[in-house]
Amino acid sequence: MTDDALDADARAILTGNDKGGYTIPTEGLYPFQWNWDSAFAAWGFSTFDADRAWTELDTLFSAQWDTGMVPHIIFHKEDDGYFPGPDVWGTGTTPASSGISQPPVTAILARLIHERTGDTERLRALYPHMLAFHRWWRDWRCVNGVACVTHPWESGRDNCPDWDPGMANVDTSGVGDYQRRDTGHVDASMRPGKEDYDRYLAIVYYGREHGWDQAKILHEGPFLMADPAIQFILIRANRDLAAIAELLGEDPSEPRAMADEIEAALPEIWNEELQAYCARDMKTGEFAKAISSGAALGLLAGVENAAMEQKLGAMWDRVTYGIPSNDPAADSFDPRRYWRGPTWPVVNALIAVGLSSAGRTTEEARLRRETAELIRNGGFFEYFDPIDGTACGGDRFTWTAAIWLAWASPNAGEA
Ligand code: SER
Repeated sequence: MTDDALDADARAILTGNDKGGYTIPTEGLYPFQWNWDSAFAAWGFSTFDADRAWTELDTLFSAQWDTGMVPHIIFHKEDDGYFPGPDVWGTGTTPASSGISQPPVTAILARLIHERTGDTERLRALYPHMLAFHRWWRDWRCVNGVACVTHPWESGRDNCPDWDPGMANVDTSGVGDYQRRDTGHVDASMRPGKEDYDRYLAIVYYGREHGWDQAKILHEGPFLMADPAIQFILIRANRDLAAIAELLGEDPSEPRAMADEIEAALPEIWNEELQAYCARDMKTGEFAKAISSGAALGLLAGVENAAMEQKLGAMWDRVTYGIPSNDPAADSFDPRRYWRGPTWPVVNALIAVGLSSAGRTTEEARLRRETAELIRNGGFFEYFDPIDGTACGGDRFTWTAAIWLAWASPNAGEA
């Protein structure tokens, strides 16, 4: 297929996955609205339909809880092809939603969408919602400025080895029987294992049993780990929100202070042994055992660290295509199993946004070229084997199509 034909196909994927104001990540495997997927979908739409791009974000924020939390899944319509559905989460919200969040990339992408489309009034309408979302992260997920997740799903990088230390201590004795749906849609060898799912459910059941009481979940819940990716995303997102505030004539001091507080906490997640910022179990202090693409998102936040960059460069050089989600030199590396090794175009795009901001054009061009090759050779899949480029997970995937249109396609313009 030519690049022009790929552009057309990517647009067809976005419009095909559009369920009316929101976009599902892919048919079958993920039949609802997912939080960070939607932010990327909006970025993709902004290349050919500005109104539809803003509507995607409006629909996402229409499910925002009174607390400011934006849930990771919004169950607009029933679909029993996915597990765990709304009954398992039991949040009691309208629309039905999950009880956890996902990486807060909306301000980063809203700023890029505004740069492309110039719709200042649509941005203005979103601003208070994004500020409330960032306050929620500060109040309910940051411990002295260290950004944490209370569930691996909240990180968006579900079975990354980053979470192994915390997951090892999750008690699954009360989980009982259940039927997974994901492995009916894609090859089980590309998905998290049963032990992971037992633990995912144990953490969900804890939240449900405690009425999604955030203080309880944060202080006494079964899982709390510092997430370097969200640490970096929040730094960048708060800086972008401050820039948006300035553009709108609002006071930028609060998002700026949030970014500074989170940046000041970075030493808490510095792993001396790995010479990298790293996931860390907040209950035991234990660090993850390998460097991951979470650390690479330091480039998104403009955090420069020569020692870590040397490690990241070596990790990148061990593969052919893009930044791997886990270091190929680690025992836990598994090139096709979801977040234990594959490269994710969407993460590559976020890293590239940081490289562009820093004027690091050579590395940005390499990452874009490698990501584009994956899509040209394999199609718009969810993720890819970073060594041989095998396409993995869901096909006709919204965020892969979106990042093609907004970044990886030669017709996209700068990230
Ligand atoms: N990514 C999770 C899943 O695979 C949920 O967010 O179902």
